[in-house]
Amino acid sequence: MFFGKSKNLLGLDIGSSAVKMVELKDLGKGKGYQLLSFGIEPLPAEAIVGGTIMDSGAVIDAITKLIRENNIKNTNVATAVDGNSVIIKRISMMPMSEAELAEAIQWEAGQYIPFDIEEVKIDHQILESEGAGGNITVLLVAVKRDLLTEYASLLGQAGLNVSALDLDVFCAQNAYEINYPISSGEITALVNIGAGTTNICVLKGGSPLFWRDIQAAGNNYTDSLQREMNLTYEQAESIKRGTAVDGVRQEQAAPILNAVTEEFGAELKKTLDFFRVTTNENAIHKIMLSGGGSQVTNLDRYISQFFGVPVEIMNPFQNVTVDERNLPLDTINRLAPHFAVAVGLALRRMGD
Ligand SMILES: Nc1ncnc2c1ncn2[C@@H]1O[C@H](COP(=O)(O)OP(=O)(O)OP(=O)(O)O)[C@@H](O)[C@H]1O
Ligand SMILES: [Mg+2]
Repeated sequence: MFFGKSKNLLGLDIGSSAVKMVELKDLGKGKGYQLLSFGIEPLPAEAIVGGTIMDSGAVIDAITKLIRENNIKNTNVATAVDGNSVIIKRISMMPMSEAELAEAIQWEAGQYIPFDIEEVKIDHQILESEGAGGNITVLLVAVKRDLLTEYASLLGQAGLNVSALDLDVFCAQNAYEINYPISSGEITALVNIGAGTTNICVLKGGSPLFWRDIQAAGNNYTDSLQREMNLTYEQAESIKRGTAVDGVRQEQAAPILNAVTEEFGAELKKTLDFFRVTTNENAIHKIMLSGGGSQVTNLDRYISQFFGVPVEIMNPFQNVTVDERNLPLDTINRLAPHFAVAVGLALRRMGD
């Protein structure tokens, strides 16, 4: 852009357990980013179920509260949906100009999309400009127009415009890339463990090779504690986070949590095994966890032992400057893993 830098968007991650908000300022000249605003607002358990917004009023209220309490002026928002609402394909195409590709992709998309092409909006990104046989590798993304309309209307009611719609899994990737060094041949599995969904993306260097959403996630722990210990949802959530609940013996929870962690490990293994057979890549060098679910006690250690690879919990603010005088640094550090998607969204710019 001619006059100054293009403007960053307000990142709003509408998760099923909470809305997370991040606004970043690009400091320019490779100086990284500064955190301008930060907020999290819990949602009632029934507001979003299975990725579908059931109670839009509750979601709008949560967003409005975040905007008001944090005195947000930026009304241009980037938000994300999970992989169940979209179709993502990695395809190989003949080399061509960006303009030719934009047209060709519309035709190409037809064979990958099980809906009427008129019902979806297509987007694409070149992943490799020189792949096998001189072809280019393109990421094709198709979103149902209904879903776009639904988000536009929802955020419109909170006084906001949807300027970018992204995917959870790629947001986590973008957050990872500004915070951690990427070495070209290294294969890293990013595992973003939310409440209802875990987004998995396997990267080789900076390029996504494989992605998948699975349903094993944080709610599995809560469900299991509720069932086995006869607790309410709220009690089970507290116990899972290690907070004492009157009349409940915390030590009873450990074996229940461990059993769910083992099930989670087995589900993750199925997905990573599938990655291996579909891509002919063998080794995964590192697993990077994020999402609130990554904070379950000992989960990181278990995953590391189970897969025999180093495991780290992502801090999406690692390379982000935070002004302690205006922002709650302790809370930011404590809740950081929840914010991988929101940080990825806040990296989007107007006109992307
Ligand atoms: N300290 C903690 N220990 C264990 N689990 C935690 C902790 N803090 C949060 N969680 C769990 O993390 C999950 C919420 O994480 P996150 O905010 O990433 O999910 P979400 O984006 O709302 O969900 P989804 O992406 O599935 O829609 C919940 O299941 C919550 O119980
Ligand atoms: Mg989430």
